[in-house]
Amino acid sequence: MDMVELGLKYVMNTYKRLPKVFVKGEGSYVWDSEGNKYLDFVAGIAVNSLGHCPKVVSDALKEQSEKLIHCSNLYWIEPQIKLAKVLVDNSCCDKAFFCNSGTEANEAAIKLARKWGNGRYEIISMEQSFHGRTMGALTATGQEKYRKAFTPLPEGFKYVPFNDLAALADAITEKTCAVMLETIQGEGGVNVPSVEYLQGVEALCRKNNVLLIIDEVQTGLGRTGKAFGYQNFGLSPDIITLAKALGGGVPIGAMLAKDEVAEAFVPGDHAATFGGNPLATAAGLAATSVLLNPEFLEAVVKKGQYFQEKLSQLQKEYHQITKVKGMGLMIGCDVAVDAQPIVEKCLENGVLINAVGNSVLRFVPPLTVSEEEIDQVIEVLAKVIG
Ligand SMILES: Cc1ncc(COP(=O)(O)O)c(C=O)c1O
Repeated sequence: MDMVELGLKYVMNTYKRLPKVFVKGEGSYVWDSEGNKYLDFVAGIAVNSLGHCPKVVSDALKEQSEKLIHCSNLYWIEPQIKLAKVLVDNSCCDKAFFCNSGTEANEAAIKLARKWGNGRYEIISMEQSFHGRTMGALTATGQEKYRKAFTPLPEGFKYVPFNDLAALADAITEKTCAVMLETIQGEGGVNVPSVEYLQGVEALCRKNNVLLIIDEVQTGLGRTGKAFGYQNFGLSPDIITLAKALGGGVPIGAMLAKDEVAEAFVPGDHAATFGGNPLATAAGLAATSVLLNPEFLEAVVKKGQYFQEKLSQLQKEYHQITKVKGMGLMIGCDVAVDAQPIVEKCLENGVLINAVGNSVLRFVPPLTVSEEEIDQVIEVLAKVIG
């Protein structure tokens, strides 16, 4: 039996997978089990921000794995403390809690907001948002298709249209403890809101003494050309959630909060056995030492502009592309045709991209990508679409 057949037999059927098995990665490239090479503009869905097997991360993993792989949070963990300091020093928050994924970070944020709310429990999130698959984060996700098979869901969640301030103003009640949103919706279609909208959201939160939770799981740590997506919009969130790029490919999540909010949690309120484990936080320290570097971030902005310009040129040539959107290296293209066949033809031509919904192509390459690699993807897209 080949690997795909074995997978179909033994692995639970929760993903729509393309029939490729990747066995090696280096920089912006991955190789499948038949030795074919692909330019990877999926990057583990915005995880491999430093490319595949970045030396800085694999060196840190090697070193830490020979010192201490795991240690309980019953004790202090050195790389966890250091990573908390890095994240606090680079954000508007004061304290960090570590977990293992994006959904877990959002779960922590929901619990913290409710504890802080002291009786106020309602959380307002956005239509088309995506916050994860565990029950709280799933309920906060503003897409019914993900929620509908899993009722009854926890109470106290409401959805309003993204980029619609009046709808949010109407939805806030005396029971609301937090508004939760992505600065740029990823799974919802790479939707970039206006600066005025996001600043208006924050103003509404302040006016009503409601927390602003920004889900930076996809936008965080350089993806948009800033350390955090919210920094493009002049915001100061009370809670930030992170995962994806934070570990340079190693699973890790984090929730950051301002002191006046973080202090609502006391020992016993929340925990994660693996959260902030020495190996994961050593990887996080190594990854952030590059991802948060101002020159690195400037290069992300330039490469993002370059990529968007090239896609806009393609749009002029091919009517199938109807819109180019995004920020930094989180880029989407609306297409007037079914997106998935384009994804599959790109794969046949040695390029990995993915589709969000039926009509948006998403590009989240490693932030270390070169302009030449961007050119190669543009060439393949032209061939596939044309
Ligand atoms: C904005 C956002 N939040 C949360 C999540 C969930 O993260 P995870 O899959 O690590 O649980 C995702 C995953 O795509 C995401 O894009």
